[in-house]
Amino acid sequence: MTVRKLEGKVALVTGAGRGIGQAIVKKLASEGARVVINDMDEGPANETADAVRAARGEVATCIGSVTAPDFGERFVQTALDAFGGVDIIVNNAGFTWDSVIQKMTDEQFQAVMDVHVTAPFRILRAAAEPIRRFAKQEAEEGREVFRKVVNISSVSGLGGNPGQVNYSAAKMAVVGMTKTLAKEWGRYRVNVNCVAFGFIQTRMTQPIEAGAAAVKVGDREIRYGVQPKLIEALETQQIPLGRMGTPEEAADGVYLFCAPESNYVSGQVITVGGGITF
Ligand SMILES: NC(=O)c1ccc[n+]([C@@H]2O[C@H](COP(=O)([O-])OP(=O)(O)OC[C@H]3O[C@@H](n4cnc5c(N)ncnc54)[C@H](O)[C@@H]3O)[C@@H](O)[C@H]2O)c1
Repeated sequence: MTVRKLEGKVALVTGAGRGIGQAIVKKLASEGARVVINDMDEGPANETADAVRAARGEVATCIGSVTAPDFGERFVQTALDAFGGVDIIVNNAGFTWDSVIQKMTDEQFQAVMDVHVTAPFRILRAAAEPIRRFAKQEAEEGREVFRKVVNISSVSGLGGNPGQVNYSAAKMAVVGMTKTLAKEWGRYRVNVNCVAFGFIQTRMTQPIEAGAAAVKVGDREIRYGVQPKLIEALETQQIPLGRMGTPEEAADGVYLFCAPESNYVSGQVITVGGGITF
C-alpha cells in the first residue's frame, strides 16, 4: 500500500487556476491533502477543482483576487468551514507588470507589491489565530504537529532582473516575511520557507507577442510574458540544465517544504531553477 505523505492535511493554494499553482494543487492532492483552491478567474479555478475531484481528491474553492482587503479572512474561513483546519499555505498567486524604472508608474509598482507582498501578509495574518489555537491544543495533548507555509519567490528577486524593479523588490520582500515568520511561528511548530523559481513554462514565460497572459488590475488589463529572444538566451546560456522547468517540476520543489521530511527546516529559501545559483 502506498503511504500518502499529506493524508488529511488541509492545504490552501492561491493562484491555482493555472500554471504552477494548478500543478501544486494536483501534487498536494495526490499526496492526500484536501485543498482550498483560489484564483481570481473562476473558470480556471473550477477546472483545477474538477481535475482534483476526478482523481478522487477533496477540494473547495475560494474565488477572487487575493488583493481584496478581506480576502485573507475569507480564504482561511473557507478552509475552516470546508475541512476544519489549516495545515499548509502556499502563497503563489501573482503576475508581472514590467518596465524600466524611469517608465514605471506608482500604480504599476504598487499593484505588483499588492499581489506578491501585501496579499500573503494578510493571508498569513488571518491564519495566525486559528494556527495558534490548534497548536495550543496539540501542545496540551502532548502532540507535535507541524504546519507549513511556502511563499513563492523568484530568481528575479534573489538576483535582480532589468525591467522588474517592482517584481524583484516584491519577491525579495517575501523572503524577509518568510524569515521573520519562521521566527515568530516556530513555537507553533510552523515551518515557514520560500521557493524561488527560475524559469518555468507557464503563461508568465510565454513569448509576449502571443499575448496569452493577462490579468485585470482595476479596470485595466495587464498583459505579460517575455521576449522570445530572451527565452532562447536563457535556455542556451543561463540555465545549467539547459531548459525551462515544467510546472510539475516547480510543484515538486514546493512539495519538499510541505512533506514531513522538512519538519526541522524553517526560514529557508531554495531555488528551483535548473541549476541557477547566486
Ligand atoms: N513562471 C515562472 O518562470 C516563474 C518564475 C519565478 C516565479 N514565479 C512565480 O510563480 C507564481 C505562479 O506563476 P505562474 O508562472 O504559474 O503564472 P500563471 O500566470 O501561469 O498563473 C498565475 C495564476 O495566478 C492568478 N492570479 C494572478 N493574480 C491574482 C490575484 N490577484 N488573485 C488571485 N489569483 C491571481 C492568475 O489568474 C493565474 O491563474 C507567481 O507568484 C510567479 O511570480 C513564476
